[in-house]
Amino acid sequence: MKEQFLLDPNITYLNFGSFGACPKPVFEAYQQLQLQLEQSPVQFIVESGMELLKASRHSLSLYLGCAPDDLVLMTNPSYAINTIAKSIPLNVGDEVLTTSLEYGAMDRTWDYYCKKSGAKYRQSKINFPIESKAAFLKDFWSGYNENTKVVFISHITSATALILPIKDICLEAKRLGLLTIIDGAHVPGQLPLNIDELNPDVYVGACHKWMMAPKGASFLYVKKSQQHWVDPLLISWGYQSDTPSHSTFLDYHETAGTRDFSAFLAVPYCIDFMNKYDWVEKRSFCQAKTLEWAQIFQSYFRFKSIAPIDEAFIGQMYSIPIETEDVAGLKSLLYERFHIEVPVFTSNSQVFIRFSYQVFNSDQDMQRLFDAMKTLKAEGYFKIEKFE
Ligand SMILES: Cc1ncc(COP(=O)(O)O)c(C=O)c1O
Repeated sequence: MKEQFLLDPNITYLNFGSFGACPKPVFEAYQQLQLQLEQSPVQFIVESGMELLKASRHSLSLYLGCAPDDLVLMTNPSYAINTIAKSIPLNVGDEVLTTSLEYGAMDRTWDYYCKKSGAKYRQSKINFPIESKAAFLKDFWSGYNENTKVVFISHITSATALILPIKDICLEAKRLGLLTIIDGAHVPGQLPLNIDELNPDVYVGACHKWMMAPKGASFLYVKKSQQHWVDPLLISWGYQSDTPSHSTFLDYHETAGTRDFSAFLAVPYCIDFMNKYDWVEKRSFCQAKTLEWAQIFQSYFRFKSIAPIDEAFIGQMYSIPIETEDVAGLKSLLYERFHIEVPVFTSNSQVFIRFSYQVFNSDQDMQRLFDAMKTLKAEGYFKIEKFE
């Protein structure tokens, strides 16, 4: 599958998680759409592009298992979460319950808007190593109290690369009468997803990560019964529209001034690409490889895994806990000296090397990371964290 991607062949690319990568046929379709836009800007932006946008939303809704009118394409998950956090009706003293594992930009967004409304953003501390789903749920719900109104949680975490038990959380949150907002940035294309079955109030995902869309394609799903309070981040022609559609939600959120929305239109090409190459099978193979290599790293380096190395917690990414004083230096060494693109993150004072395994990766790629880590450890660039 390497041939299908534009990635620099001189780099061992083990960081699909950060920004995905676009397959050649999808990128070509994207450029073709941009060409059409520039050849006939008015016609495209006002007419044919809008029809294509509708088709793209429909195709994405089928892929995600939700109604097409409950979904809006947006530039990135930050845009979508900002839309929600800015308009959610919170009163002084209300609480948004989350974990200590959330993506930094999302923490900052919630912190900002909670402070504005006098609400509290409460981060339940998740203890490592997570022994089981029950242990995770216990840690998570320990932050619940009578002021909790909203649950905000990642479906797959970023630095720690963990699949969280979202189904259980959505069920319990419903029972408690809480609003559920799921950050699924890493999910579409990496895990099977059916939003209607999961039944959250809000679900945000990126198409430009594991669905392989060009950068700037993501989505916001809002359950119909909750759409009335969601203000657009940008007021434009969709407010008091001269040509209102059947959905105020779509009118409000689909118009956002002049912009190049070609990345949104490339989404059906990603779905075609995944169908053509039997992605369900491919991604489970990649997950099996991720688990296999996580075990190999674990047995050799003897760290305590932050969660069980199994399909419930690990998808196509795995985070190895290490200790280093120089996170940026280690990342550059891996890139400059070993030509490996792999992120080194700090989350709650814990440093992780997170590898992603995608269809174009191989055992040789993983072996290169393994050998580089062996060398760098022997040279004293990092030590192993044992949580003891
Ligand atoms: C869990 C999670 N949420 C949200 C985001 C935000 O994505 P963006 O910066 O594209 O808005 C990311 C990005 O990697 C992420 O990992």
